[in-house]
Amino acid sequence: MAKVAIMGYGTVGSGVYDIIKNNADRLSRSTDGEKIELKYILDIRDFPDHPEPNLFTKDFNDILNDDEVSVAAEVMGGLHPAYEFTKAMLEAGKSVVTSNKELVATYGTELLEIARGKNVNYFFEASVGGGIPIIRPMHQCLTANNILKIAGILNGTTNYILNQMIKNGKTFETALKDAQNKGFAERNPAADIEGHDACRKIAILASLASGKFVDYNDIDTEGITAVTLDDVKYAAAMDSVIKLIGYAEFGKDGKVYSIVSPMVIRSDSPLSGVDGVFNAILVTGDCVGDVMFYGKGAGKLPTASAVTADIVDAVKHSERSKKIFWEKQPDNIMDDKDSRKFRYFIRTNDNAENIRKIFGKCEFVDNLISGESAFVTEPLTSSEAEEKTAELCDVVTKLRVMD
Ligand code: HSE
Repeated sequence: MAKVAIMGYGTVGSGVYDIIKNNADRLSRSTDGEKIELKYILDIRDFPDHPEPNLFTKDFNDILNDDEVSVAAEVMGGLHPAYEFTKAMLEAGKSVVTSNKELVATYGTELLEIARGKNVNYFFEASVGGGIPIIRPMHQCLTANNILKIAGILNGTTNYILNQMIKNGKTFETALKDAQNKGFAERNPAADIEGHDACRKIAILASLASGKFVDYNDIDTEGITAVTLDDVKYAAAMDSVIKLIGYAEFGKDGKVYSIVSPMVIRSDSPLSGVDGVFNAILVTGDCVGDVMFYGKGAGKLPTASAVTADIVDAVKHSERSKKIFWEKQPDNIMDDKDSRKFRYFIRTNDNAENIRKIFGKCEFVDNLISGESAFVTEPLTSSEAEEKTAELCDVVTKLRVMD
C-alpha cells in the first residue's frame, strides 16, 4: 500500500482526488497491484461538503512527519510555500510530483538535485502541456537525439482566446472572460496573456533538452494583448493564423536561442490547426526528425491525468531516482537580438515607396484597412526589424512569421 498526499485542493488537486477514487483499479494495475491510498489533502480552506472530510489537514507537518506518506502531489501553484514544502518533503526522502511550472522553472535545478541526492523523485509531467505526455518522452523516448528545435503552443488560454477571435470574431476581452469561466486561465490572467506561463514552459523544455538550466528571465517574451481582430483577419487573408509560440533552438555550442512571441503560422504547418484549449509541441531531433505532441494543455482532468501518472511512477520507483536533471549553468542563452532571423508581418500607415526604400525586397499583402499597407519582410534579426520599423511612420503591427 502506497500512501500519498495531495497538497492544494484547487482545480487540479480535486481532479487528482477524482482520478485516484474513480480509477483505483486501473492505477493498481500499473503499480503491480500496490494500492495507492490517499491519506491527506492539504488546504487552508474548509470543504464541509466533501465526502471524505477526515482527509483534510491545514498543517503541512502532518504530511511531512508521517513516515507512511511516500509521495505528495504539489498542486498548490505559486512559489511560496510550494517551494518550502517541496524542499522539505524531498529532504525527508519523499517523492514529490507537480503541475507547478513556476516552481519547476524557478527552483527546478535545486529541487531535482535534492531528489537525486536523496534517491527519490521530483516529477513534473503536468507542468508543460497539461495532459500531454512531453517531459517523459523528451527524457526517455527522445534521449538518443540532440534536440535541434522546439516550437510549441504551450498556453491553452491564449490559444482559446485567439481561436475565438479567429473563428467567432469575438473580442479579446470576451474570449478571455470565457476562458476564465471555463477554468483554463491562471488566477492572474496576466500570466497567460502576457506570455509568462508559456515562457516558463519553454524554459523547462529547453532546460530538459539542453541538459542545462535555461533561466526564463533571459527569454524575450511577448504576449497576445496587442493582437487585434484586424491582425487575425490579415493572417486569414494570408492563409495563416496567429498563435502564441514558445520557441527554442539549440546551437552546437550548447547555447540556446529562445523566445515567446505571437507568430503568423501558415496553414500547412501542423501547429496551425491546433484549436481551442489544445496545446501542441513540435520537437525536432537530429535522428527522429519532427515529432509532434498534441492534446489538452489545461483543465482539471487532463492536468490531473499527468499528475496522477507521476504519482504512479513515483510509487513504482520508490527509493530509486530516475535522475531527471539539468545542470546549473548561467549565460547559456544566445543573444536573442541577433542570433536568429525571422520574416516579419508588418502593418503601417506608411506608403509602399517608403516601405521598399527601408526594407528592400518585401511581399505586399492585400489591404484590408484603407490607408494602410501590409507586407512581409525578408528574414531579419530582431535588431534589424526594430531599426527598420523605427524608420516607418505609424507601425500598427509587427509580428514574426514562422517558416
Ligand atoms: N493557464 C494555463 C494554460 C494552464 O492556459 O495553458 C495550464 O498550465
